[in-house]
Parts: sequence; structure tokens; C-alpha cells
Amino acid sequence: MTGAVKLAPSILSADFARLGEQVREAEAAGAGYIHIDVMDGRFVPVISLGTPIVEAIRRVTELPLDIHLMIEQPERHVGAFMDAGGDVINVHAEATRHLHRIAREVRGRGKLAGACINPGTPVSVLESLLPELDQVIVMSVNPGWSGQKFIEGALPKVRRLREMIDEAGLATEIEVDGGVTAENAPVCAAAGASVLVAASAVFNDHASVAENMSRLKEALAAGAK
Ligand code: DX5
Ligand code: ZN
Repeated sequence: MTGAVKLAPSILSADFARLGEQVREAEAAGAGYIHIDVMDGRFVPVISLGTPIVEAIRRVTELPLDIHLMIEQPERHVGAFMDAGGDVINVHAEATRHLHRIAREVRGRGKLAGACINPGTPVSVLESLLPELDQVIVMSVNPGWSGQKFIEGALPKVRRLREMIDEAGLATEIEVDGGVTAENAPVCAAAGASVLVAASAVFNDHASVAENMSRLKEALAAGAK
């Protein structure tokens, strides 16, 4: 593991009626990225949000916007999400035949290129592509919804990716997305994750965003048990 683990609150569980406020709360509480889940109703059953929301969030925070495109043929839309203010553009390996081309296009615009793999997809699909990527997202739930249970099978994939990235001398971030809580965050970090997404563990009715972020940060500081 290298350096401090960044937290990337996902707005999918935020109160959309006061989205700007919730994003500002997350920033004030020490978020590293704001994670924005885009779903098209085809790659996943749900439709979530599009470029107008990204533009709106761009106006209220200085944080990098981590755009998670759960959409078919993302090559048709990456340009629009970069124009809207996305900083890290993540596309699913399962959704395109053109990961390499997309990564080149994103980096060509001076943005960060990310690739995501579903729980059923092996890390080997990304092996030859790692030098082209700034980030890999290992899904630890099946994409489509927040609030699902963490899939333990993601951990060996994170460990394997950490080995591959370190052996190649790359700085590619490993982001774990789905079911992250204060209980499993330290385990994800110990496996080699450098960014942790959390929606329902940050935006919920039990506690404030600041309290929830503190819990996650304290758990990470205490380390894996
Ligand atoms: C799932 C999304 C995740 C989701 C995480 O399709 O990609 O980013 O918002 O939600 P939690 O943290 O509640 O599992
Ligand atoms: Zn996501």
C-alpha cells in the first residue's frame, strides 16, 4: 500500500434535493474525490443521472469528479462527461470493445483514465492495458444500486492488481466500489486499495456526513484487525 487512502463519497445515496450542500459537506469532511454514478438503464437496470448533474456539482466543489460510467458503449459519451467537468473517467471493461482507445482519448484531453471490472470479470482483462490507465475500479457489488453487501471475492482481485501495478512500477490507483463500511475499509486498504467509494456509509439517516466520514477515516487509521 502506498500513502493515505482517499475516500470517494458517492452521491448515489445523497439527498438529491440538497445535492450541493451534501457535496460541500463531503468536501469539508475530507473527501478525496466526489464519485458520480452514471447509469443508462441498459448496462445496469437503473437510470440515474447525466451531464447536467455533473455540471452542477462541478460548480460547487474543487474536488476531482470521479465519473463512474455504467453505460453501454461509453465511447459515445466520454467526451460529454469530460466537457461537463469530469476529471477521472471510468468505463466498464464489459461495456465496450474499445477500452484502449477510450483511455487514450481521455488522457489526450488531459483527464485521468479509469477502467472498471464487475465482480465476475477477472483482473487479467486489464493486464496489457495498465500502462494506459490512471485508475482501476474493482466492483465489490454488482453495479446498479447503493446499499448492497460487500462481495469478499473482490479482495483477492485487489491483491493481484496491487502486485501487477507494483511489479510494473506504475502509479495506477486501485479503487474499490460497493458495500464499503468502516468494518471492511481497513481490509480493502490492506489488500492494496488506494481509493474507497462509499455511498450509503457516508450519506444516511443515522449520522451526519462529517460523522460518517470520521468513522471511516478512524477505521482506516486504526488499520485492519
Ligand atoms: C454501484 C455504484 C456504487 C454505489 C456504492 O452501482 O457504482 O458507487 O453508489 O454504494 P454503497 O457504498 O452504498 O455500496
Ligand atoms: Zn460507483
